Amino acid sequence: MSKEVKIGIVGLGRLGRHHAENLAWHVKDAALVSACSIVEDELAWARETFGIKALYRSYEAMLDTEKLDAVWIASSSSQHQQQIVQALDRGLHVFCEKPMGVTVDECRLIEQAAARHPQSKFMIGFVRRFDPSYAYAKTMVEQGAIGTPFLVRSQTVDMDAYAAFQVKFVPSSGGIFLDMNIHDIDLARWFLGDEVANVYAIGGSYVHPEFETVNDADNTAALLKFKKGSMAILSVSRTAFHGHDTHMEVTGSKGILKIGLTPARNRVEILDSTGARTECVKDFYERFAEAFLAEAQDFVDCVVRDKVPRMTAQDGTRATEVGFALTQSFRTGSIVSL
Ligand code: NAI
Repeated sequence: MSKEVKIGIVGLGRLGRHHAENLAWHVKDAALVSACSIVEDELAWARETFGIKALYRSYEAMLDTEKLDAVWIASSSSQHQQQIVQALDRGLHVFCEKPMGVTVDECRLIEQAAARHPQSKFMIGFVRRFDPSYAYAKTMVEQGAIGTPFLVRSQTVDMDAYAAFQVKFVPSSGGIFLDMNIHDIDLARWFLGDEVANVYAIGGSYVHPEFETVNDADNTAALLKFKKGSMAILSVSRTAFHGHDTHMEVTGSKGILKIGLTPARNRVEILDSTGARTECVKDFYERFAEAFLAEAQDFVDCVVRDKVPRMTAQDGTRATEVGFALTQSFRTGSIVSL
C-alpha cells in the first residue's frame, strides 16, 4: 500500500473531534479523507476545520463511496459492533474506541470478523496503555522492580459537572462498568498478566438519583479475583468536585508502584490563606491527550509497517466479559463467575 494511510472517521462527538484533529494534523503517515456523523453541525465543523468534502450521515455510504485504507470508529458504543464488522468485511483496517461491544455476543462477532480478515489491522482503544506513566510502570513490572504483582487498585473518576450529561448516554454506553471501569479492567489484566475468575460489584446513585432510573449508578466499587489468585479493587465515580481523578496502584511481592495518585494539572503548588494545593486536570482528554496521540500514531504505524497491534479483539472481548459480569453482580447482588 502507499505510505499514506487514508482514513475515514465515524463519530465527531466529545472524543471523536480530538481523534480527528490528531489524524488530520499530528499523526505521521495519516490522511483524514472523510468523516461520518449523524449530527449535521459536526459535519459542518469537519468541513470548516479540515476542509474535508467527503462528509457522510450514513456510515455504509462512506464505506461504499470512499477509497479508504482504514476506518477510525469513535461513534456511540452501541454502534461499534456493526461498524467494525462492516469495515473488516470490506478489507479495511480498523481502530475502534472502547468498549469494543456492549454485549459479549457482539464481541464474539467482532472476534470472528477479525479472524476472517487477518490481513486487516484491528486495534481496540485502551488508551491508558499509551500513557507514559502507565507504560513506564508496566516496563518496571516486567523488569521485576516490584517482584510478582498480586494486587491492582484502579479508579476512574469524572467530575460531577458532567454527570447530568452522562445520564442520557447510559442506554448506548452499556452503563458505568462497561463505559468507565472498562479501562481499569484492561489495566488489571495487563499488569497482573491473568484473567478474571469472579467478581462482586456494589454501588448506587448517591448524588444523582437519575442514574437509578436508567438502572445505573453514579459511584461503584468492585472486587475481582483472578484465575491464578491475584486481586483487583476497582472503583468509579461520576461525582468528583476536584478534577478527573484517574489513578492506579500495583502491589507486588517486593514493592508498590503508584501511578498518578494526585491528578495535578502541572507541578505548580499554590500556597495561600486556604493552605497548600495544586490545580487538577478537569477531564479525561486533558489527562490523556499525549496517550491519545501516541495511540493514533501506533495504529497508523501498525498499518504502514505491518506490525501487530498491541491491543487485540481478544482484549476487547475479555474486558467486555468482565464489565458485563460487574454489571450483573451490581444488579443482582451476587458474586458472578466468568
Ligand atoms: P458522543 O455522543 O459525543 O459522540 C458520538 C458520535 O457518534 C457522534 O458524532 C454521532 O454522530 C456518532 N454516531 C452515533 N451513531 C451513529 C451512527 N449510527 N452513524 C454514524 N455516526 C454515529 O460520544 P463520545 O463521548 O465522543 O464517545 C464516543 C466513543 O468514544 C464511545 O464509544 C465512548 O465509549 C468512547 N470514549 C472513550 C474514551 C476514552 O477514554 N478512551 C473517553 C470518551 C469516550
